[in-house]
Amino acid sequence: MWGGRYKMGPAEIMEKINASIGFDKRLYAQDIAGSMAHCDMLVAQRIITASDGRAIKRGLRQVKAEIESGKFKFSTKLEDIHFNVEARLTEIIGPAGGRLHTARSRNDQVALDVRLWVRDTIDRLEPMLADLQAALIDRAEEHAATIMPGFTHLQTAQPITFGHHLLAYVEMFGRDRGRLADCRARLNISPLGAAALAGSPHPIDPRKTARALGFDGPMPNSLDAVSDRDYVVEFIAAASLTAVHLSRLSEEIVIWCSAPFRFISLSDAFTTGSSIMPQKRNPDAAELTRGKVGRIVGAFVALCTMMKGLPLTYGKDMQEDKEPLFDAVDTLALTLAASAGMVRDLTVDRARLKAATDKGHITATDLADWLVRTLDMPFRQAHHVTGSLVKRADELGIQLFELPLAEMQGVEPRIGKAVYDVLSVEKSVASRRSAGGTAPARVRAAVKAARARLRKEP
Ligand code: ARG
Repeated sequence: MWGGRYKMGPAEIMEKINASIGFDKRLYAQDIAGSMAHCDMLVAQRIITASDGRAIKRGLRQVKAEIESGKFKFSTKLEDIHFNVEARLTEIIGPAGGRLHTARSRNDQVALDVRLWVRDTIDRLEPMLADLQAALIDRAEEHAATIMPGFTHLQTAQPITFGHHLLAYVEMFGRDRGRLADCRARLNISPLGAAALAGSPHPIDPRKTARALGFDGPMPNSLDAVSDRDYVVEFIAAASLTAVHLSRLSEEIVIWCSAPFRFISLSDAFTTGSSIMPQKRNPDAAELTRGKVGRIVGAFVALCTMMKGLPLTYGKDMQEDKEPLFDAVDTLALTLAASAGMVRDLTVDRARLKAATDKGHITATDLADWLVRTLDMPFRQAHHVTGSLVKRADELGIQLFELPLAEMQGVEPRIGKAVYDVLSVEKSVASRRSAGGTAPARVRAAVKAARARLRKEP
């Protein structure tokens, strides 16, 4: 492609370090779509003839068909997807193929291809996130009144419902969808027309190519157009946070499946056995979802490190954006689908969840709140009194709700037997009716609201 001033071919190792075709062939559809739009613009602006334009488009369609049928021979000698497509185009249609690259550089071409690829990817991941939310909402509705211990510090804190717990993840994945939508809106401008870095002397119309490719318009600055990879970093940052959320959910699934907890179980479809321990049922999909986060966050670190010292404009370093990006996307798509699968698959052991609330004096806060309401006690004092009652229950080896009235009155004589009402987990959960609270009625309303949002978003 630059034989004009070169006497020798590249060293073998040069070819090896330079070639990106092994991975950037994934950009073929975006590369060809960009070339089609560029070709139309060149014809419309009379930069190339209509008949050359027709030949180019026919040739590009054939190249695409060859790639999709697996017939296309990718060549490392031709470095990347851009040269591979162009060389084959010229083979098919002859010298007119050489006119396609008028007023274009691989610098604006690759910037365009990756932008289109990230945009397509967001459009593919977005419904996967929505599907995971849909699965969580369905299970939340089913378990709007299923009582379980809520934890802070992984210590038994207050009773909550399993549905409420699942809806917390619906919120997290909703924010993730918002971040993807933000990223999509910001990346949706076209770098085409920047050419190598400075723009073009030909009478091009970048607005036309931008419109044809579904962009909001062309990028205002040609230098920025070829050197900007913010959209890759931004996308991977959003993907990292989603991966972090998936990992937290997975971690809970792992804990909930473990023998000491046994809050839930996963079916044969989402577990594996052990080669030595016949009783084992391992939650591998959850563990792998948790473990694969490193690849996605690693991609974010790789991209930031790759960009941080780059002078304007294009640098070959930027070719290094693709492998982390592709791997992060493959990983995220896989773990998103596995997570939705696990959420739909899991069986909840209501009795075990309920039994787990019998430990840890889980309604101690309810007792303190009752003292405030019934005896008009300052909360700090109520906290202290309840603490003494918990201590007494511990000494007797029983739970707070089992503590005899006489014991309670030994600490605070004004306590009457009505206190036992607030010590039940059902009453505790039902009383938390404040906005965003865990009362089953609230959870059912939250399920409805989440479903309505799911239909509307993004
Ligand atoms: N394969 C290159 C990349 O991915 C394409 C752009 C090359 N541009 C250049 N001037 N060498 O970044």
